[in-house]
Amino acid sequence: MSFDITNLKVGFIGAGKMAQGIARGLLSSGKVQPSSVIVSSPSSKNHGFFLDFGIATTHSNTTVVQSSHIIFLVVKPHLISTVLNEVSSLITSQQIIISVAAGITIAKLEELLPPNSAVLRLMPNLPCVVQEGALLFSRGTHASEKEADLLRSLLSSCGLVEEGPESFIDIHTGLSGSGIAYVYMFAEAMADGAIKMGMPSSLAHRIAAQTILGAGKLLRDSGQHPAQLRADVCTPGGTTIFGLHALERGGLRSTTMDAVEAATERARELGRK
Ligand SMILES: NC(=O)c1ccc[n+]([C@@H]2O[C@H](COP(=O)([O-])OP(=O)(O)OC[C@H]3O[C@@H](n4cnc5c(N)ncnc54)[C@H](OP(=O)(O)O)[C@@H]3O)[C@@H](O)[C@H]2O)c1
Repeated sequence: MSFDITNLKVGFIGAGKMAQGIARGLLSSGKVQPSSVIVSSPSSKNHGFFLDFGIATTHSNTTVVQSSHIIFLVVKPHLISTVLNEVSSLITSQQIIISVAAGITIAKLEELLPPNSAVLRLMPNLPCVVQEGALLFSRGTHASEKEADLLRSLLSSCGLVEEGPESFIDIHTGLSGSGIAYVYMFAEAMADGAIKMGMPSSLAHRIAAQTILGAGKLLRDSGQHPAQLRADVCTPGGTTIFGLHALERGGLRSTTMDAVEAATERARELGRK
């Protein structure tokens, strides 16, 4: 299967938060024009977002399938069977199907699709909407390196795009999908600490957000191990080592590892249901 990326038609079945995030990244990569994208959903309530970008919208999933080379399935997991039962007979081996539905395995998708369908399972996280997502994908039986390269290229503006075995998808959910909530909780707690010490709430929250953003950027862009960056700000007898000691007393590291483990186990459990 080979595609000329400049003529690629991209379809989305589902128009909610994640479809919007991926579509935004897709367009800002400049590789796909709005006129080459089409989106379907039963109601029009999310259509305005796409129409503002010049993207066509429809209530018909079959129209999306009939007009697209690449089809993103961006509906809630419990609707995947319904949607694929509706459109499966129209899908050809020349198309690529990308599912973002949490817990729906590649085996299940391949079972619902015609034989030899090229399937990829993608797990994004919400910061896709600000083009700072962490996305992990796995290839199905009939998806080759070519399809993987195409997906990487299309989604390069959504954030970090990595490929891994399907068994990593639930770990990615525990680390990154749910992980953003751990970071929000940490941000809230940091700001609360500052409020306790007398700083006004709105200022404390702005500074906490920027501190997390700055630390994340430095960590990613420097390529250094977090322990090294942490050591770099620990002056002997200084403020940071006193703060870190308090975090160690509270078991921050062990609790965070437990959180990733618990969320991963829960993702596995939901996937089995
Ligand atoms: N949000 C996240 O952080 C996140 C992260 C990773 C993976 N995901 C996955 O992304 C998928 C979508 O999540 P979301 O957060 O974007 O959900 P969402 O905001 O609720 O959007 C779901 C969309 O599906 C549409 N829909 C419902 N039934 C449909 C049908 N029969 N045919 C076509 N479209 C239909 C809805 O239409 P209406 O607009 O008419 O309601 C809506 O536009 C889920 O499978 C989820 O597991 C989400």
